[in-house]
Amino acid sequence: MKHICVIGAGYVGLTTGVCLADLGNQVTCVEIDSRKLDLLNRGTLPIFEPGLGEMLQRNMRSGRIRFTSDYASGVPQAEFLFIAVATPTRAGGDGADLDYIRAAAETLAAHLHEHTVIINKSTVPIGTGDWVSDIVKRHQAPNSSFDVVSNPEFLREGSAVLDFLSPDRVVLGSTNPLAAEKVASLYLTLKAPIIMTDLRTAEMIKYASNAFLATRISFINEMSHICEQLGADVKQVAVGMGYDKRIGHSFLDAGLGFGGSCFPKDVRALAYMADEGGCHPQLLRAVLDINNDQRVRLTRKVLAIAQKSVNPIVALLGLAFKPNTDDLREAPSLDIARTLMAEGVTVRAYDPAAMKQAVTLLPGLQCAPDAYAAAEGADVLVLVTDWNEFKQLDMERIGNSMRSANLVDGRNMYDPDTVKAVGFTYIGVGRGNLNHASSADTHTMVAADEATIGSSLVLNGRGAGA
Ligand code: UDX
Repeated sequence: MKHICVIGAGYVGLTTGVCLADLGNQVTCVEIDSRKLDLLNRGTLPIFEPGLGEMLQRNMRSGRIRFTSDYASGVPQAEFLFIAVATPTRAGGDGADLDYIRAAAETLAAHLHEHTVIINKSTVPIGTGDWVSDIVKRHQAPNSSFDVVSNPEFLREGSAVLDFLSPDRVVLGSTNPLAAEKVASLYLTLKAPIIMTDLRTAEMIKYASNAFLATRISFINEMSHICEQLGADVKQVAVGMGYDKRIGHSFLDAGLGFGGSCFPKDVRALAYMADEGGCHPQLLRAVLDINNDQRVRLTRKVLAIAQKSVNPIVALLGLAFKPNTDDLREAPSLDIARTLMAEGVTVRAYDPAAMKQAVTLLPGLQCAPDAYAAAEGADVLVLVTDWNEFKQLDMERIGNSMRSANLVDGRNMYDPDTVKAVGFTYIGVGRGNLNHASSADTHTMVAADEATIGSSLVLNGRGAGA
């Protein structure tokens, strides 16, 4: 059992603190926001994250985690001190705002006691570890010593607990390998590869990973546009590409592109750092441009259909930037709804988790209690977020209740033939070939005895391969 203090009980800090408590450690989370603190002290999560609430309550009951606003009650006992405060984009620029990190480093320094390992979890610009080290040195309590380790998080909203407990890898960067090894001891039970580097390399691994994933999304989205123009189906193209082991299937879903608190911010921050460093980050700029274009192009399609009606109504299925979260940060829904409303379109939406936040961000938005109510009387139904619960909707009922049964599928979630069969006009993203080939998902026919045949046979639903 180790004594751990986590500064910042936001999304990353809370997941880190709760999971480390669940691994048997004694954790104190320092949170200065009194509203969050009240909720947490009552065992309530201030964020939406499947599985985390139960784990929080279990560990509070067993006394392994507690919450305070007082650095003095958490920092001195801690052998490990995680900094997990927010690093938003700086107002009016693309660089990261490090004010919260600076404040945390200054305050914790004054409470240090004996030797402490300070661990940066927040996504921070390259060089921040050295900068934090300098700040702590300037403010550190007498007779204390410390090391700084960079330990970037790779948590996805909606599966953060799983990602923490079963990581693909743990990255630890430090100028002192012994400090990194101490931090590694916290993760040994997770049986993940542990990569030890210097501070700056660890910080860069986080940016490079997110930028690469964002690049995959923008790549397939660029392909979707080309497919649309040339008459191919991007969904099947992605399946066909993904079977190449060097490519793989993940992060090749064309659609409305990426949003959320990380990808857009991190790609912008990396491009900014690159510019500052005298590089020319043309790929990163293109990744961001393509991502924006996807939203614009889809909104144009929706508008073109909606404006055929008098007093048009558009129904949005989903608002959150992705399923299983209530997070609306940089969500495509915000741009789509704002543009449509500015053009005089009535926008009615349903999201299983994000409506409360959406009404404050989108004045004029109408919220419906479910998908059916959202669609009633609408001219266009737009699938914005691919929540599982939208997969099994009674599309015939929905189509019949609409003024005009148009479906714009922003995540390529529906089978075009199936929805067309119940009367919808279907428009997806990059599905140009729908009139010629099968639109059913590409099927995989696994040969009966793979061991003897040695490969899988991939056929296109009805047409190809015959
Ligand atoms: C991401 C990283 O995955 C995580 O490692 C990092 O720590 C934080 O940022 P998150 O923002 O929770 O996590 O979302 P993620 O599940 O990665 O999806 C990001 C966005 O990409 C979503 O808007 C999603 O809809 C979009 N996406 C994802 C696609 O458009 N296509 C895909 O194929 C995959």
